[in-house]
Amino acid sequence: MRAKTSNKILLEWVDHWTGVLGPDAVRWCDGTEAEYDALATGMVASGTFQRLNDDLRPNSYLALSDPEDVARVEDRTFIATKDPLDAGPTNNWRDPSELKAEMTGHFRGAMAGRTMYVVPFSMGPLGSPIAHIGVQVTDSPYVVAGMRTMTRMGRPVLDALGEGDFVPCVHSVGAPLVDGAGDVPWPCDPDHRYIAHFPETREIWSYGSSYGGNALLGKKCFALRIASTMAHEEGWLAEHMLILAATPPGGERRYVAAAFPSACGKTNMAMMVPTLPGWTVETIGDDIAWMKFGDDGRLYAINPEAGFFGVAPGTSEASNHNAMATLHANAIFTNVARTDDGDVWWEGMTDEPPEHLTDWRGDSWTPDNGSMAAHPNARFTVPASQCPSIAPEWEDPAGVPISAILFGGRRATNVPLVTEARDWAHGVFLGSIMSSEKTAAASGQTGGVRFDPFAMLPFMGYNVGDYFAHWLEVGARADANRLPKLFWVNWFRRDGDRSFLWPGFGDNCRVLDWVLQRVDGSGDAVETPIGLVPTVDAIDRTGIHVDDADMEQLLDVEPAAWEAELALIEEHYSGLGERLPVELRHQLDDLRDRLHA
Ligand code: GTP
Ligand code: SPV
Ligand code: MN
Repeated sequence: MRAKTSNKILLEWVDHWTGVLGPDAVRWCDGTEAEYDALATGMVASGTFQRLNDDLRPNSYLALSDPEDVARVEDRTFIATKDPLDAGPTNNWRDPSELKAEMTGHFRGAMAGRTMYVVPFSMGPLGSPIAHIGVQVTDSPYVVAGMRTMTRMGRPVLDALGEGDFVPCVHSVGAPLVDGAGDVPWPCDPDHRYIAHFPETREIWSYGSSYGGNALLGKKCFALRIASTMAHEEGWLAEHMLILAATPPGGERRYVAAAFPSACGKTNMAMMVPTLPGWTVETIGDDIAWMKFGDDGRLYAINPEAGFFGVAPGTSEASNHNAMATLHANAIFTNVARTDDGDVWWEGMTDEPPEHLTDWRGDSWTPDNGSMAAHPNARFTVPASQCPSIAPEWEDPAGVPISAILFGGRRATNVPLVTEARDWAHGVFLGSIMSSEKTAAASGQTGGVRFDPFAMLPFMGYNVGDYFAHWLEVGARADANRLPKLFWVNWFRRDGDRSFLWPGFGDNCRVLDWVLQRVDGSGDAVETPIGLVPTVDAIDRTGIHVDDADMEQLLDVEPAAWEAELALIEEHYSGLGERLPVELRHQLDDLRDRLHA
């Protein structure tokens, strides 16, 4: 398709990058099914895609990445601002002009021998006042296919854009085909990756990777890092949160958002099958929430995405029936294993692994191999509209009013199953001291506990202290009675070094039940130094094997353990620099006082 726009800035921008990147051809994506099918067919021919068995998994594909390109690369993710303080101590700062000069060196001629796709996309329902438009150029058809599922993409976006503003996103795999060089199934340049953000000019430049958040630039780069800076300037919130609709039997339908770090349970919670009789939980979004105040003073959330890019390992009929059903067709799987009959498999999908597989590296695999058949960060890409639990209002441009926000991490110790914040400012404090065990969603070591405030550590586009101040201001400006209540949850507490104390998954509705009771002003709670925790009997345990002793352990706020936790929080805060709000220092003093009272 040729350019179907008269947007001068867009046309000039595409011309500029055509000159720098030097592709053999330029193609404007229209977002149609025919275009998707043609791209997929081309990728099957080039070896990027394997078509799965159409009887088992219609219209679905498997991609195996380069083994060096399997997750977000946080150490190669940059926030480039004039003043390093504006990027803050938790981001990798670079000077914008220096970084642009360095990256331009890599971008020059990077698309030789390839097609440059121009991908117009909308984050949020097309034409919604909350939505924002971006345009990504990329030389990866795999990324184009992913963007079509994950965003509203193509010709209608150009129509909606008109002569308006867009966030320009430049992406190259960094593997020019020169002198007749042959292509590989997953081109990339792992030694020179850059995931760069220029919040002051609202630009995104990404080089060298095709994996997920590194390359689908609408997702973490735009909808979180750039959008968080927009939200900071404009008085709204762009957050790493799921959004769900919960309806207790005979009760009111309510909306809850929850921020958990990567691979810590957002997709699972958003699609949960509640085990309490009469409950329904429906999905609005599984990864990102944009929240703005409505005229009624309530906070309204939209899911800016159109698809799910979810963690495959651990997903099963038992743990997430709705995800499994969503994946019945029209899915792209990346780095999962392939069965001999042309379907997919990953660890945790079934109790018994198949007798033979082709693993994510493309090698023959049997259960006695001892290695993972799927990569721990293997993912599926699938349209949200296919999800059986999708809420009818999931694309409502006005968003849904949020009653409660949960913050949660993966903590084997110390952090109770659920804790209610005393008020908004205390909830901001709890969000700021969240920590979690590291997962495979980012490259590097897994397991160690790190502070991940608001589950946004890798996704804040600006100074962490300013981010906390923004959350405090949002609360201070609002009518306190209309603000969501804030909670801290932890599904991952263990019995000593052993098993999880809480069954999790669909049983998390029991915690949701208490949360909604607290929103309604009921539900029994006790004061602890860190906030309000349910009484041992406050959470409905009918039908599950969690005895009183387990529950006491799940809810315990142990003074000696919290003394140690306090020292870590003090260290965490001391690393956050001069812009940490004094109000949060006071909150920390109050916590210390309560622990020592
Ligand atoms: P990103 O897409 O990386 O942002 O992650 P996410 O937060 O959506 O994570 P997801 O829901 O995919 O969770 C991934 C992992 O958490 C899987 O290993 C799940 O099995 C595990 N998990 C999710 N919910 C629970 C729970 O309630 N209890 C326990 N024990 N594990 C859970
Ligand atoms: C995450 O890591 O939080 C994800 C996957 O949701 S990615 O899109 O790769 O960032
Ligand atoms: Mn995520």
